[in-house]
Amino acid sequence: MIRKAVAGDAAALADLAAATFLLACPPGSSPEDIRLHLKRTLSVDNFAEYLADSKIAILVLEQGARLDGYTLLVDRQSTDPDVLRALGGQRSVELSKCYVHSDHHGRGAASTLMQASLDWAAEREAASVWLGVNSQNARAIRFYEKSGFTKVGTKSFTLGDSVESDFILECPLPGKG
Ligand SMILES: CC(C)(COP(=O)(O)OP(=O)(O)OC[C@H]1O[C@@H](n2cnc3c(N)ncnc32)[C@H](O)[C@@H]1OP(=O)(O)O)[C@@H](O)C(=O)NCCC(=O)NCCS
Repeated sequence: MIRKAVAGDAAALADLAAATFLLACPPGSSPEDIRLHLKRTLSVDNFAEYLADSKIAILVLEQGARLDGYTLLVDRQSTDPDVLRALGGQRSVELSKCYVHSDHHGRGAASTLMQASLDWAAEREAASVWLGVNSQNARAIRFYEKSGFTKVGTKSFTLGDSVESDFILECPLPGKG
């Protein structure tokens, strides 16, 4: 089942983020950088702030009492010049996070979550959805390509105290773009 997360989900989301963030990191990422990233952006307090922000939606994949995946969407223009250049002025929702527990990889759950995320952006009348993905994350890149995204640029991403290289991908939404 997919549903919109609510304030009471902050702790479960932080647990899920801690269990899944490592899967998106390039091999060789330092444990300290990962620890810092979790503390700075994926803590219970961070999720409580995201859940209170009217420009953000978190969609969760839930089975029983357990959260098995989530996406975080931001309906706010990016301030990153590389992203603005890549999007060429289009109104685009950011798919800021997309994580599914490894038990569910390769089973279609991620596609269901992605479709619900694209539907949310379409309801907000965005022209497209964009995201940043680590250039070494081949599995996620393949998944995004299957979902309708193409590469439109590159940008940097701060992981703890290190700087990583991301691809910028964009998916046009029906009737827009
Ligand atoms: C990204 C994610 C949500 C995709 O969900 P998923 O269930 O794994 O996706 P799917 O199995 O539908 O698609 C993955 C595709 O990558 C392919 N793939 C798997 N490992 C791969 C690899 N090492 N290199 C290239 N392709 C790979 C799969 O074969 C599949 O393609 P196919 O359907 O054409 O065979 C999930 O893998 C995930 O949560 N990963 C960890 C977190 C992450 O990286 N998030 C993205 C952050 S930007």
